[in-house]
Amino acid sequence: MHFAFADLSGREKYKLLTSAVTPRPIAWVVSQDSEGRLNAAPFSFFNAFNGDPPVVGIAIGSRESGQPKDSRLNIRATGEFVVNLVSEQTVAAMNVTSIDFPSGIDELQQAGLSTAPSCLVKPPRIAESPVAIECRFKQEVELGGGYALVLGTILAIAIRDDAVRDPAKLEIDVPKLGLVGRMHGAGWYARQPDLFQVPRITREEWELAQADT
Ligand SMILES: Cc1cc2nc3c(=O)[nH]c(=O)nc-3n(C[C@H](O)[C@H](O)[C@H](O)COP(=O)(O)O)c2cc1C
Repeated sequence: MHFAFADLSGREKYKLLTSAVTPRPIAWVVSQDSEGRLNAAPFSFFNAFNGDPPVVGIAIGSRESGQPKDSRLNIRATGEFVVNLVSEQTVAAMNVTSIDFPSGIDELQQAGLSTAPSCLVKPPRIAESPVAIECRFKQEVELGGGYALVLGTILAIAIRDDAVRDPAKLEIDVPKLGLVGRMHGAGWYARQPDLFQVPRITREEWELAQADT
């Protein structure tokens, strides 16, 4: 079935897109306002867009009042943030931090989470998260409708010790991180238990395989 977006409402476009583009990683963003007050919120219009230079992008919207969400205001104000990734153990706490609390309320405290210092940026990481990505604000791209794509340059990444199989080779036990992705509506998430491998092939290997058939 074909759905032309010009004929759909905002809600309908969102529903189709978030049903089709799955699973999405979740940026659990910790930021601080200019007075140092902590803020945390999840965003699943998120991904890493490049390895070198290493860049993350997060689409952050506005509140009903039209005021940009606190994460965006804080990132603009201080230029720093931490993207924590969400494990199955922390998904319920992550959900609490998505509640539309008034500005200045520490969602981490509300969710019973603790923080640990970051190395290169002022906002701390979420201690219970298996991965924390320290970022410096790079650029904001206005998307319309109150949304902006916030780009950040990655300065460092912290990975829980027990999931680092070989630090010298940078080998990570990825399943051990237990990360979840966001699926379609009504609070659906995905685990990563069902992995399979498809090695990249070179053009020469492809042509040889074609010649053999
Ligand atoms: C799993 C999940 C993913 C979300 N993804 C987004 C998103 O990509 N963009 C967005 O603007 N809001 C998203 N939200 C809603 C925000 O987390 C929510 O509006 C939050 O209150 C914003 O907090 P802040 O004002 O402290 O930044 C998401 C919520 C959940 C639970």
